[in-house]
Amino acid sequence: MTFPDVAINLVKPKDPVEVRIVSTEIATAAPSPNFIRHITFDVSGTPLEGNIRAGQSVGILAPGTDANGKPHALRLYSVASPTGGEHGDGKIYSTTVKRVIDEHWETQELFTGVASNHFCSLKAGSTVRMTGPSGKRFLLPEHPEQYNYVFFATGTGVAPFRGMLLDLEALGMPTDTVLVFGCAYRSDFLYADLFGRIELGHPNFRYLKAVSREALRGDGSKPYVQTLIEDEAALLQPILRRENTLIYVCGLKGMEDGIYRMLDKHGIGGYFERGERGIKPTDRMLVETY
Ligand code: FAD
Ligand code: A2P
Repeated sequence: MTFPDVAINLVKPKDPVEVRIVSTEIATAAPSPNFIRHITFDVSGTPLEGNIRAGQSVGILAPGTDANGKPHALRLYSVASPTGGEHGDGKIYSTTVKRVIDEHWETQELFTGVASNHFCSLKAGSTVRMTGPSGKRFLLPEHPEQYNYVFFATGTGVAPFRGMLLDLEALGMPTDTVLVFGCAYRSDFLYADLFGRIELGHPNFRYLKAVSREALRGDGSKPYVQTLIEDEAALLQPILRRENTLIYVCGLKGMEDGIYRMLDKHGIGGYFERGERGIKPTDRMLVETY
């Protein structure tokens, strides 16, 4: 499998571009304990214009300094748009941002992540400092019509798959493709209308959901994206067993481990190998977790 040549680091942190926010909307399907936004931004006139592929990320620089008095480090956000952007002309792209909010584990104060809260608080018309694009492997392959796809996403990990699925739809959804999306509550479905619409128009695309905190599985375990390999075995396993199927995983750090275990349990090979340093994915499994 080969990947297309892509541009990376056209805009570097030392010299970021100011990009205008075009729109910002709540992205969850219903009122939710999570604050997640679909944010679109305009890169026209910058080196990013026409140069971002589905699967790549952009960097955001929040204003201000960290605890050591240094400018805040860059944070990456996956582009949620197809390769030509939201309108095909390479100018407007989008991302899916979750506010990081928690109780501080030492001080007990409210902990708010720097860049995600800065980005989510920006209004349409304001600007954000951006770098990128970044990432040269978490992409659709050079000849996308030669592969089937199983995309596993938790939460905002669905962002790159929105873009890739729109790219595949533009090609007529040529092969069997499944999106397996995991979240805590049904309120947190992201882009469900879009994926439902693609599914209606293309019977070879299926959209599966694993909701972890509403009902347990028969054995008492939580529904997670990987448990659907078992619970939707008739749909997923024949696709996963084909030699020209690729798995993409995006979302929670470490989520790939559960997928390895479930593939192993069902004797589905080809996606990972065991080496001296533990398990590592083969080139048929692409992982981007954070
Ligand atoms: P920070 O200020 O960086 O705070 C987070 C850090 O604070 C954590 O790493 C942890 O060390 C610490 N921390 C966390 N909780 C607590 C607590 N309770 N008490 C004390 N300390 C704590 N995010 C998205 O929302 N959407 C995306 O599409 C997306 N894509 C990504 C793509 C890539 C390739 C990568 C690497 C990351 C991506 N992320 C995405 C994550 C994003 O880059 C940021 O890491 C995330 O938004 C948090 O940044 P922040 O500045 O808001 O939080
Ligand atoms: P839970 O937190 O109920 O254990 P979000 O990013 O919106 O929080 O969603 C993350 C989803 O991924 C939640 O449903 C969460 O379940 C689930 N999850 C947590 N740990 C894993 C894991 N190791 N593998 C797969 N999914 C996980």
